[in-house]
Amino acid sequence: MERTLIILKPDTIQRRLIGRVIQRFEDKGLVLAGMKLMQIARELAEEHYAPHKGKPFYPGLIDYITSGPVVVMVLQGDRCIDISRTLMGKTFGYEAAPGTIRGDFGASRSYNLVHGSDSPESAATEIALYFADGELLDYAPDGSRWIFVPNDV
Ligand code: RTP
Ligand code: MG
Repeated sequence: MERTLIILKPDTIQRRLIGRVIQRFEDKGLVLAGMKLMQIARELAEEHYAPHKGKPFYPGLIDYITSGPVVVMVLQGDRCIDISRTLMGKTFGYEAAPGTIRGDFGASRSYNLVHGSDSPESAATEIALYFADGELLDYAPDGSRWIFVPNDV
């Protein structure tokens, strides 16, 4: 079982798309282990996006992600890191395929609606930035066994 950190970025909240974006992850069968509405402080954003420090888009990225409320979630399920990235689509909305979140709702480089961890290592680091262990629930909703197959190699 794998976990990933998903953030619905400020544009998703301002555009009233929270429900429609979460629906994509729910429809796929990923399970919500934790969720909160918050505004990310500058220091936390700088920790989260430390790997991008020094890149030309970094200052704008920090301004954007701290500019308004976000919804932060932990999703769980086999292969949920890759599955989430596939549902999100390519980074820039104008390049992302139709049917993906960014492809259907995004049109720019920066305002791309959603963040998803890109590896098991970054998922572990990012989840710890936003959630204490006790805030995350481990459960399998009825029906999960019709979505995730044990030993599905
Ligand atoms: P994210 O981390 O937010 O899930 O997005 P990602 O993996 O698809 O993209 P990443 O390369 O990690 O970039 C992080 C965020 O920085 C902004 N960005 N702007 N102007 C640019 O060239 C540029 N490149 C990246 C995007 O908001 C991207 O989500
Ligand atoms: Mg990234």
